[in-house]
Amino acid sequence: MDETDVMPRGDLTVRIPAMPADANANGDIFGGWVMSQMDLAAGIRAAERARGRVATIAVNALTFKKPVKIGDTLCVYSSIEKVGRTSITLAIEAWTKARASNERTKVTEGTFVMVAIDENGRPVAIAAETLAE
Ligand SMILES: CC(C)(COP(=O)(O)OP(=O)(O)OC[C@H]1O[C@@H](n2cnc3c(N)ncnc32)[C@H](O)[C@@H]1OP(=O)(O)O)[C@@H](O)C(=O)NCCC(=O)NCCS
Repeated sequence: MDETDVMPRGDLTVRIPAMPADANANGDIFGGWVMSQMDLAAGIRAAERARGRVATIAVNALTFKKPVKIGDTLCVYSSIEKVGRTSITLAIEAWTKARASNERTKVTEGTFVMVAIDENGRPVAIAAETLAE
């Protein structure tokens, strides 16, 4: 276990309990459910930075390291790694918190690329951040 498996990196953006309907026949939570919570977190964070609509253009290097169990709380952390002309690259980490303890475990990590879009769904330039923000 390295340092990045001890403390979540980024801002807590989504918290949600893993429910029985999200589980597969083994009783573990579907990877697709975890990925969708990570996509939501990336979308929230990118839309705040872009101050408008965003769409997911790429998901890179997603690694499912540990299973998620029914009843775990999934906590998704986001950090902005890069802002391009129209795109925002975010590091997204999903951690679980067990019901009976405060123990946190990193379960999934990956890089999401979101594109700022206009009302017609076309890429738009992202405004520079000012010091006041
Ligand atoms: C998002 C969308 C509007 C972008 O339009 P586009 O014409 O393909 O975009 P562009 O080629 O102009 O690229 C836009 C930005 O994305 C980046 N980009 C494009 N493909 C990428 C990839 N595979 N990985 C990382 N970044 C990528 C470009 O470098 C550019 O970034 P920059 O402006 O910061 O330099 C369009 O691809 C789209 O509608 N995709 C579907 C989105 C969607 O429905 N997502 C949900 C999936 S279910």
